[in-house]
Amino acid sequence: MRYLILFILVCSGTLLSITLIDNYQHQRDGFLDSVQKRLQCRRLREKLVTMTTMKKVDIALFSQEVRELMNCPWRLNLTHRELHRTELWSCCNASDRLMVTRQNTNQNQSLTYDAEKWRKRKVDQALWEMLPQTVPWSKGSLSRCAVVGSGGILQNSSCGAEIDNADYVIRFNLAPINKSYDVGVKTDLITANPSQINKGYPDLQRNPGPLVEVMSVYGHAHLLLHAFSFGFGTSPCFKVYHALRKACTQQKVVFFHPDYLLKLDKFWRRRGQRAPRLSTGMMLASTALEICEQVHLYGFWPFPLDLSQNTLPHHYYDNVGPSHFMHAMPEEFLLLLQLHSQGALQLHVGPCTLTPTP
Ligand SMILES: *[C@@H]1O[C@H](CO)[C@@H](O)[C@H](O)[C@H]1NC(C)=O
Ligand SMILES: *[C@@H]1O[C@H](CO)[C@@H](O)[C@H](O)[C@H]1NC(C)=O
Ligand SMILES: *[C@@H]1O[C@H](CO)[C@@H](O)[C@H](O)[C@H]1NC(C)=O
Ligand SMILES: *[C@@H]1O[C@H](CO)[C@@H](O)[C@H](O)[C@H]1NC(C)=O
Ligand SMILES: *[C@@H]1O[C@H](CO)[C@@H](O)[C@H](O)[C@H]1NC(C)=O
Repeated sequence: MRYLILFILVCSGTLLSITLIDNYQHQRDGFLDSVQKRLQCRRLREKLVTMTTMKKVDIALFSQEVRELMNCPWRLNLTHRELHRTELWSCCNASDRLMVTRQNTNQNQSLTYDAEKWRKRKVDQALWEMLPQTVPWSKGSLSRCAVVGSGGILQNSSCGAEIDNADYVIRFNLAPINKSYDVGVKTDLITANPSQINKGYPDLQRNPGPLVEVMSVYGHAHLLLHAFSFGFGTSPCFKVYHALRKACTQQKVVFFHPDYLLKLDKFWRRRGQRAPRLSTGMMLASTALEICEQVHLYGFWPFPLDLSQNTLPHHYYDNVGPSHFMHAMPEEFLLLLQLHSQGALQLHVGPCTLTPTP
């Protein structure tokens, strides 16, 4: 009997130690895996941050790296965020001059067009009366902002809930929001470009209905227009202002300040941007970086294949190609990816997880 008890004790002791050793090995493997993964993530971030151009980059390989990066945890780095914010603030000051306001403009002064520097426009009585008093926010007054590009990468992304969860949502080019599961519906600021207005709404004075109907889905959003970039853009933008005012829509029409755009252009040029002109996406991503505590970018992915090499349409809502003549989307994407790698803002490329990050 005594031997039997002893035998049982020895057996269970052995079992216990086997289990413990096994457990320990598992934990150690897990630990080593996570150390290795963290190291890989760090190397990847360092590599991306030191890239200077997208020229001659193998896009398939680059996609693979972005895919790995998207699997790495993203953490806000306050040091980097504040550095970029402060630099943007001291160069460009979106909280004061993103748009032309009565506060940053004098009656009878002239505005210099940012894309045609020889062209000027006097702020006469009629224009003065179209201007809002101030920009509707101050530096860092917004908490979580979502900047929603129109890239085909948003198709089937399920990012809508996460986007709607933001405090402030910026969209572009009157992008439709009826695919709400992927892109959400909340809109606080939306842009339209003059050529889009000329083409889509040619007779606004007599027939404002179609534009008023398209705008009706955007609630109380501000409609931000490039009225003083190219000479041809001024008249369609003014027509939009008058048409929406006459129809008493909820949206206020405001105009980009050309000085802001000019300073922003110089800012990114100093950091390696070489295309003739920044995209509106890059402009407003910069604005968000200055005025928001947290910036999340969706729909920014300028390549024709997704991270798993499936074909993408140009936009999430159509397949009409953009003009690659004006903008350098891959180069802009690299700059944004670098901000992501530094922890200054968060890019979302591919499907959103169902639980939004707080
Ligand atoms: C932020 O980045 C800087 C510079 O790369 C680094 O020294 C610092 O440890 C980072 N801070 C956090 C909280 O990760
Ligand atoms: C930005 O504009 C605000 C409002 O006019 C002003 O108080 C602030 O000093 C400006 N900041 C810089 C860095 O110029
Ligand atoms: C602007 O110019 C007009 C005409 O030249 C003049 O009547 C008006 O007083 C000026 N307004 C201001 C605020 O200087
Ligand atoms: C969504 O909006 C776009 C543009 O406004 C329109 O062309 C399309 O028919 C709409 N789709 C649905 C399902 O309502
Ligand atoms: C999204 O899903 C639809 C329906 O399943 C499919 O036809 C389409 O190709 C998908 N788009 C992308 C970009 O995966």
